[in-house]
Amino acid sequence: KKIVLAYSGGLDTSVILKWLAEEYNCPVIAYAADIGQKEDWDAVREKGIATGAEKVIISDLQKEFVEDYIFPAFRANAIYEGTYLLGTSLARPIIAKEQIRIAKEEGADAVSHGATGKGNDQVRFELAYIGIDPTLKIIAPWRTWDLNSRQKLVEFAKNHEIPVPVTKEKPYSSDENLLHISFEGGMLEDPWTEPDEGMYQLTVSPEAAPDKPTYVEIEFSNGDPIGLDGEKMDPLPLFLRLNELAGTNGIGRLDLVENRFVGMKSRGVYETPGGTLLRAAHMALETITMDREVMRIRDSLVQRYADLVYNGFWFSPERELLQTTMDASQKTVNGVVRMKLYKGNCTAVGRKSVQSLYQENFATFEEDDVYDQSDATGFIRLNGLRLKINALQKSGLEGR
Ligand code: ARG
Ligand code: SIN
Repeated sequence: KKIVLAYSGGLDTSVILKWLAEEYNCPVIAYAADIGQKEDWDAVREKGIATGAEKVIISDLQKEFVEDYIFPAFRANAIYEGTYLLGTSLARPIIAKEQIRIAKEEGADAVSHGATGKGNDQVRFELAYIGIDPTLKIIAPWRTWDLNSRQKLVEFAKNHEIPVPVTKEKPYSSDENLLHISFEGGMLEDPWTEPDEGMYQLTVSPEAAPDKPTYVEIEFSNGDPIGLDGEKMDPLPLFLRLNELAGTNGIGRLDLVENRFVGMKSRGVYETPGGTLLRAAHMALETITMDREVMRIRDSLVQRYADLVYNGFWFSPERELLQTTMDASQKTVNGVVRMKLYKGNCTAVGRKSVQSLYQENFATFEEDDVYDQSDATGFIRLNGLRLKINALQKSGLEGR
């Protein structure tokens, strides 16, 4: 009887909006989430109405995105396949959650999205829908309609007076939020082709970055950043500032081939300036505040956590279990890290914490009175016992 569509104002979701209204002959609400992408929201609103939406709802989710999605993932040092900081993966669950809230509020019984049948996003949207409210009907037009080519899409748009952008189509598709911009498809489908410099929007090239380093001190509390250069800041403005600092120093570009959940490899290019800086700083602080064995166990779970987020299991008991564990590991991660940003690199050059486990009197090469060097003799002898027995057995020597 009523559908809430996750709408961006672009060609694809405009066509979907029209198609849903015709196919199901019911009111469609166009819902757009502001998660920090640069967008003319008045234009989106107008276009939604012009394309036949009963109502356009734009929700500002920026603060919630930083506090409840980005920061939790960075407390976990989440990284997919060793490189990707999950910018799109983290955005889908928050978009879906708000979509369901709106569906309830507006008395809708169905939700729809514009993700294709070949990607990760369809899985993320729909697992989030199911994980929050499995009673809603899910409509995935890309998997059911016959507009299965660009050509047919454009034709449909023309026949329905949906404005098709006159500007030459961008030679790739992009997706932006506070954490990153991702670029995929088009010219990027050839993994041998280097993207043009003109594609990047959040970062200058390392070559063009300032010749002098920028320093920034990031303060953390329980693993979350809470201040910059001695000044306390709220999560959203703080994160925006990290994006700016890192972006102007050429930090956070990534060009990779990743494994999609549905099975194929996909070439992606990402700009994640603030996230790249934040992760490096966070890990530097952990080096002085986290127990060695806690860190080993935590590290063994990072990949599991990242896979869950990538594969769309944000709203799942297993992600929640891991989050609890990750968060518990952060109770000692308090202190300040000084980062040096220079031409695409960010390096920790200072770290301090009142909870530091790094004790100069233990580590020093100078004379000390807390560590008895002769203790190491037995330590090494017993650690070597097994090796000794093995070696004697192999060489046929008698034990001496
Ligand atoms: N490959 C990345 C991911 O799966 C980015 C996906 C981009 N999505 C998009 N609709 N353009 O998280
Ligand atoms: C899409 O297919 O809608 C975008 C790419 C992805 O989800 O991986």
